[in-house]
Amino acid sequence: MSFTVAIDGPAAAGKGTISRAVANRFDLAHLDTGLLYRAVGAKVLEGMQPREAAEALQAADLEAGNLRTSAVAEAASRVAVLPEVRAALTDFQRAFARRAGGAVLDGRDIGTVICPEAEVKLFVTASPEVRAERRFLELTAAGQEVTRAGVLADVKARDERDSSRSAAPLRPAEDAVVLDTSELDIEAAVAAAVATVAARRG
Ligand code: CDP
Repeated sequence: MSFTVAIDGPAAAGKGTISRAVANRFDLAHLDTGLLYRAVGAKVLEGMQPREAAEALQAADLEAGNLRTSAVAEAASRVAVLPEVRAALTDFQRAFARRAGGAVLDGRDIGTVICPEAEVKLFVTASPEVRAERRFLELTAAGQEVTRAGVLADVKARDERDSSRSAAPLRPAEDAVVLDTSELDIEAAVAAAVATVAARRG
């Protein structure tokens, strides 16, 4: 039987950590859909056309080492405005969402467009400053040379582009549970998400 948990929200809100923890706790498969857009963005930086890159995407492309850089995140949000890119990635995401045994998908439009019938929808958010600080720590821990001000500007630019695009804009589904993690540490955020899923899963 399928059981889908849709976790949406802006950059660095904690979706990834929460999604992995929920998937582990309830023994569900997990797909970080941002990686699909990042992999397409990375190919476009190498000179490919966006549609061609999205249509030719292979599982191995999601393993590329450079997908977590700021440059690739920026390229991802630029290709993510293109309806033909989003369309090329839809079937794979929907099939994953409905796989037997259940799945957690995290992204921007899972509860609104990819899987509006998901059994659980969470919208994970936090203030831009808190998100930028978390992302700054992640990027510097990974050895990338970034400044706090630069990361905050990138996060805000991406929020703006993701929210204002006409194809699948970032917004909470009407029936999503909103989880603001600005004042929560990761354990508390995970506990709140697990409690929401447990209430629906029985
Ligand atoms: O990890 P972070 O939240 O910074 O980014 P991500 O989830 O890896 O997504 C990178 C970019 O891909 C986002 O800024 C969006 O523009 C795009 N994206 C999207 O449009 N739809 C999704 N379902 C997932 C990501």
